[in-house]
Amino acid sequence: MLRKFILVASVFATSLAYAMPSITFEEVDLPSLQTSAQSVVLFIDDAETLKGTAKQVDELTDGRLAQALTESEFSASLGATEVFFAMTPFSRITVIGTGTEPLNAPQLQDLGGYAAAALPTGAVGQPRLIADSLPTSVQLPQAYIAMGASLRDYHFDKYKKTESQTEPRRLVIHGAESESASALYNNDLRHVVEGVYLTRDMASEPGKSIYPQAFVEHVVDLFDDVRNVDIDVLDVRDMQKLNMGALLGVGKGSVHDSRLLVISYQGADKKQAPIALVGKGITFDTGGISLKSNNNMWQMKSDLAGAAAVAGTLLAIAKRGENVNVVGLMPLSENMPAQDAIRPGDVLTTMQGTTIEIISTDAEGRLILSDAVRYAQDKYAPRMLVNIATLTGSAARALSDEYAAVITRDWALSEKMMEIGNVSGEHVWPLPLHPNHFTQIKSDIADIKNSGAGNPGASIGAAVIGTFVDESLPWVHLDIAGVDWLSSSIPVAPAGSQGWGVRFMDQIVREYK
Ligand code: BES
Ligand code: MN
Ligand code: ZN
Repeated sequence: MLRKFILVASVFATSLAYAMPSITFEEVDLPSLQTSAQSVVLFIDDAETLKGTAKQVDELTDGRLAQALTESEFSASLGATEVFFAMTPFSRITVIGTGTEPLNAPQLQDLGGYAAAALPTGAVGQPRLIADSLPTSVQLPQAYIAMGASLRDYHFDKYKKTESQTEPRRLVIHGAESESASALYNNDLRHVVEGVYLTRDMASEPGKSIYPQAFVEHVVDLFDDVRNVDIDVLDVRDMQKLNMGALLGVGKGSVHDSRLLVISYQGADKKQAPIALVGKGITFDTGGISLKSNNNMWQMKSDLAGAAAVAGTLLAIAKRGENVNVVGLMPLSENMPAQDAIRPGDVLTTMQGTTIEIISTDAEGRLILSDAVRYAQDKYAPRMLVNIATLTGSAARALSDEYAAVITRDWALSEKMMEIGNVSGEHVWPLPLHPNHFTQIKSDIADIKNSGAGNPGASIGAAVIGTFVDESLPWVHLDIAGVDWLSSSIPVAPAGSQGWGVRFMDQIVREYK
């Protein structure tokens, strides 16, 4: 097997497309604010009675801030935003409502996101966010506000003229226990944001420059100085030896060979069975011979979002040195139509031995995942397996942008995943897996077929993958086709690839370590 020592210059800029904002943490110190702050951001739960530093800021403006809040009928509901200019001594006061309920971590991230969205982009000035007197249930809320601001402050503008590219911002967040907040952000949460950036970069990158080997090289590069990480790259010959006919079949029509990238992170005792994260990495999905229509086909450059989220999660976990063993597997193929591409009606033999009749070459994600999950179990004997994929339009139609679909064999596990969604800020909603879904993928000429006749497309896709997952193993299937790409911004992400799954899988690892 190829080890990580393939020193080939990457085909696209290996640095992150956009540097993270630089954020510093300071105590609340009014005199220094007064002299240095041009631009302040205040979080307010009640416009009528300003508290803490907000109250002092108002006094500095001779009560004009309070008056302006009344005149503008500022509601102070969560996310409500108002900007006031030239209220001497401040050039700009941005007021953001918090609501009155105690804020949890995702809500604090949203607040940071609202702040980043309301401030001018680029490295203009050094806005100061005042995070005292917040209604919150969380220790060190500033760290989560910083995380949210960083998540929102992402731009994929590497293909724009240099003059139009955005500089990273510089923010200062004022609040109590600033040193601990800084440690929490810099030693932990910041790495999760780095993972999300990695994922967004990969999913935004045009298919022309990110094919399987390019994905591998980019990731190998990013993990270069990360400790306790081992990287394996299976090439076509390795996969042929393992009889991975499904994974190899999908890539056959492409001039770019398939790969299976495996990142193992060992943060706990060798004897601890790992958690396996397996992500769909179709570097471009044309549909193959079952060619897609032109409508939005360009978005299929992000059909590797599952694999990218696995890489991003591994980066976050390894950089913050979590005390756990995790293995990430990323099957990578490009799904192209060509004279040697697989055809509808073809039969592929998987590593497991199970044969699959191809009904649609566009149902390719489940094919590469079938071999990858089998390999994950045989080689790494995980104690839990999570797979993540932009798998079906069906999941997107059912749940849209709000929820990723979660499918398990066990209702308690689905409930646990919903809880993890609430804690991480990335929400999931269960879809079923019924014995009929397995019946529907029986094939006349092979063991199974890759798509059924019925409507529950997300469940059918899960049934195909489930055929390759041992029933005794806790298994979580995440279909992110709907949440992967945002047509408009949300508090913690601009429009485009949102890097869904890094925060979610990071939280799984925190809870199952
Ligand atoms: N990558 C697509 C799913 C997708 C659709 C992701 C829209 C993001 C947005 C997947 O490979 C696919 O083509 N699925 C087919 C399956 C069908 C042929 C059984 C689908 O959902 O239509
Ligand atoms: Mn497809
Ligand atoms: Zn696809």
